[in-house]
Amino acid sequence: MKKIAVMTGGGDCPGLNAVIRAVVLTGLRYNLETLGIRNGWKGLIECDMVPLNDSSVSGIISWGGTILGTSRTNPLKDPADLEKIQKTIQINDIGALVVIGGDGTLSAAYGIANRGVPIVGIPKTIDNDIFGTDLTVGFDTAVSIVTEAIDRLHNTAESHHRIMVIEVMGRNAGWISLTAGVAGGADVILVPEMHITFEEICRNLEARYMAGKKFSVVVVAEGTLHEDIADTTVPECDRDECGHEKFVGVGNLLGKRLEHQLGIETRVTVLGHVQRGGTPTASDRVLATRFGISAVEQIVAGNIGCMVALQGTRIGTIPLKDVTSRIKMVDPNFYYDLSMIKSGKR
Ligand code: F6P
Repeated sequence: MKKIAVMTGGGDCPGLNAVIRAVVLTGLRYNLETLGIRNGWKGLIECDMVPLNDSSVSGIISWGGTILGTSRTNPLKDPADLEKIQKTIQINDIGALVVIGGDGTLSAAYGIANRGVPIVGIPKTIDNDIFGTDLTVGFDTAVSIVTEAIDRLHNTAESHHRIMVIEVMGRNAGWISLTAGVAGGADVILVPEMHITFEEICRNLEARYMAGKKFSVVVVAEGTLHEDIADTTVPECDRDECGHEKFVGVGNLLGKRLEHQLGIETRVTVLGHVQRGGTPTASDRVLATRFGISAVEQIVAGNIGCMVALQGTRIGTIPLKDVTSRIKMVDPNFYYDLSMIKSGKR
């Protein structure tokens, strides 16, 4: 094998360029040329790629985004696209493909690997919800951004004696909400996995007021669409290209309801894509580098059809088929241990 290719698919996150750099540099160590596929699966369908070398990845370890571009194109939707992908791989003599992606991209990778394409996956998403790895690239940076935002909101909440609701990303899993919420000392932390009633939230906030704490910070993951938090009047969500719901804004719904119920002035901050941009933290850069190195080493060793993963402190692998069928959720005990510290329940 002389050539490998690398692509980034799905939502971007800080640390993608660090992975690309590690793949290219490790490839060079094994005398492998690396092609960069532009815009995820779309680039393979359209045969849109660029050769990457030492100088194309020089200095990019600290850059946010992805120099290759990304898309949410689903390559399994149309059988004609699949044929185009196979043709692109064949005519460009690509011996193996490194797919840097979240659950959608890695599921597609599994489907394509089943059709004979040698693939190694690398887990990335700020949501940290990929099964089989303790951490994903991008999560640590997102948590830092959210923690800083919570710290800032604390200041203004206290000055104005308000409730501050902060909505963060987290479609199916509340890792960002829980981790940053704990780090920022939030008073209520809401995640999709745990059904905390509106009544419970109010009780917690009221108790704080009774104890003389005239301000509160509530962190809510965007996917926390439990009826009694987001109200039953949530309008129908539309869906994106991959069939994901476009969220309707649980933060605003909750903020309005809290203000109405408690009579305390409430403000809402929706952090949105701010969480996905900017320079990666040192931890993300190191994780990205370790994943990139390992992915190429797996290819060289002939261990394909797998995803590299952080397992404790070491980098291991897990078969793609075991990754794609499930999501890594927040464990209820972990949630209670960490988030209930403030309510005195634990
Ligand atoms: O990929 C993860 C994620 O960050 C989710 O938490 C969020 O719902 C989604 O991406 C939003 O992505 P986009 O607006 O880019 O489609």
